Amino acid sequence: MRLKNYTAAGVFALITALPMAAMAAGDPAAGKSKSAVCAACHGADGISQIPTYPNLAGQKAGYTVLALNAYKNKQRSGGQAAVMQGQAMSLSEQDMADLAAYYESLPAGGK
Ligand code: HEC
Repeated sequence: MRLKNYTAAGVFALITALPMAAMAAGDPAAGKSKSAVCAACHGADGISQIPTYPNLAGQKAGYTVLALNAYKNKQRSGGQAAVMQGQAMSLSEQDMADLAAYYESLPAGGK
């Protein structure tokens, strides 16, 4: 009985901790300077010119950080994910937060 309560508490802690972890403070200006390499595939304004590559402009920063972490630790694999695994490998938590803040700040419809 007590174990069940601990499990529920653990699940609750995990659910509440995940969004918090994604909220590491990002600096959009720093993200912009780090985004030069990303622009080749995702567009200078976060709108991809390649039909099969995703737009990043206007995306929620929390989601972008989760996605980048998932590529880095290879939770996201298959399909085109291999392309991004290579990109995410060298990114620190701060890089991800900065990049995510930058892309969130861009208009989803392009400039
Ligand atoms: C060589 C091309 C290329 C480069 C460079 C690149 N990406 Fe990507 N990116 C892709 C492709 C292709 C996908 C789709 C992968 C998939 O299917 O999971 C993607 C997916 C993503 C996603 C997930 C989008 C979503 O909606 O789930 C994010 C976030 C992302 N890239 C961020 C970045 C950032 C930040 C950089 C720069 C550090 C970067 N990418 C550099 C090609 C690239």
